[in-house]
Amino acid sequence: MPVTTLFPTRLYTAALAPRAGATLNARLKAECLQLREDDGAGRRWSMTGYPGGFTSYSSANRMHEMSPTFAELQKRLNRHVKAFAEALEFDLSHRPLVMTDCWVNIMPYGVSHSLHLHPLATLSGTYYVQVPKKSPGLKFEDPRLDKMMAAPPKLGTAQAANKPWYTIQAQEGHLVLFESWLRHEVTANLAPAERISISFNYNWF
Ligand code: NI
Repeated sequence: MPVTTLFPTRLYTAALAPRAGATLNARLKAECLQLREDDGAGRRWSMTGYPGGFTSYSSANRMHEMSPTFAELQKRLNRHVKAFAEALEFDLSHRPLVMTDCWVNIMPYGVSHSLHLHPLATLSGTYYVQVPKKSPGLKFEDPRLDKMMAAPPKLGTAQAANKPWYTIQAQEGHLVLFESWLRHEVTANLAPAERISISFNYNWF
């Protein structure tokens, strides 16, 4: 068919590390739970910024510089970020992409995280530490949605690339990367257990 696809929205998903990943994941989980105990400023901020849950987004948000365990996570993430940047054909010959922010999110039953993007960042992503059954994935929105006022709805059978929303299932030990301008959300956690993730930003400026 004489149709060209332009301006794609790219997402990257992978297992963090095939070897020794479970050991690192267990250490990360213990530190995430400990951080919630220790980070009073984060707990207070979460009461309004992340109701019902805990995030260190506005308090302990450079965890890769505070904890050797998170630094190890950063080291393993770097390889994936490099691969994604290559797929996006970024020219990074003059400035490297480096991790600038890294924070913890804990979502008990019923907690959600509404639509947002990650300002002042280039690439963002999430690593999944604990994903109970029935807990939500990461839902992305077509960035051109506001330009589609007169577009008809899509067929129920439409392929993923043609749909206005797409959800990547969260998977323990796996990561998702996306460009920071892409809006996304986490719908309510319907599992009777906590969903634990670590989010991060990479910047080239
Ligand atoms: Ni986000």
